Amino acid sequence: MTLRVSGLSAMRSGRTILHPTSLTIEPRARIGLVGTSGSGKSTLGHALIDDLRAQGHSVAHVPQSPDEALDPLRSMAFHWREAEWALGLQPGSADQKTLFTALKIAGGDLRKRPWGWSRGMQQRFVIAMALIGSPDLIVLDEPTSALDPVVAAATMDLLDRHLEGRATAMMLITHDLGLAARRVSTLMVMQEGRIVEQAPTAEILERPKTRASKSLTAHRNWMALPC
Ligand SMILES: Nc1ncnc2c1ncn2[C@@H]1O[C@H](COP(=O)(O)OP(=O)(O)OP(=O)(O)O)[C@@H](O)[C@H]1O
Ligand SMILES: [Mg+2]
Repeated sequence: MTLRVSGLSAMRSGRTILHPTSLTIEPRARIGLVGTSGSGKSTLGHALIDDLRAQGHSVAHVPQSPDEALDPLRSMAFHWREAEWALGLQPGSADQKTLFTALKIAGGDLRKRPWGWSRGMQQRFVIAMALIGSPDLIVLDEPTSALDPVVAAATMDLLDRHLEGRATAMMLITHDLGLAARRVSTLMVMQEGRIVEQAPTAEILERPKTRASKSLTAHRNWMALPC
């Protein structure tokens, strides 16, 4: 199903941090939302999620750090049950085995609390929770910045593989053009609360038009990166 939002905006402390923004997201889309720190990426991500959920779409969110999604006092099993409950599913009805195998966490002990798992496993668990129920859209906000580059690349590979052939669209929010370049087919470039450029990834990387995308591409030897 095509997802549409229009006129998303946000103000904080009397300042417009997101100017009216409309987006159309096709099923299976792979979109990278890039821009310098403070350009408004997370603000747009949250506004997009809220609006689409209010329309009745299922939209999952993966935050930058697993700490934001996992309570250190609760077991991994508890988190999984909560995620099922939030989606109105009976406990144990989500396809845990498929998701755990896909994200390579099948060996994790669910009785343990988050700190009993490595950071990479924790973040893959958070991604697995986000994928319960095959959402229409998964929004990942800097999902691998707390991981080392090798684990980060492997995590994104597992996610790519799991999404292959599924209708779920993906929006990857990052200031790391190297990460986005290999994962998405469309880039949206943000600057000062606006999307200033939107085009196929290769086009922006090879022929950036705006100052924002020129400076992002100029500061990265993106082809040399592993992730
Ligand atoms: N609660 C708030 N009150 C005031 N200003 C805010 C608030 N939240 C965000 N901002 C401002 O809005 C702008 C956009 O913030 P946002 O977090 O969306 O940027 P970002 O592109 O996600 O940055 P980063 O790459 O660092 O995560 C920034 O200038 C930020 O300082
Ligand atoms: Mg952000």
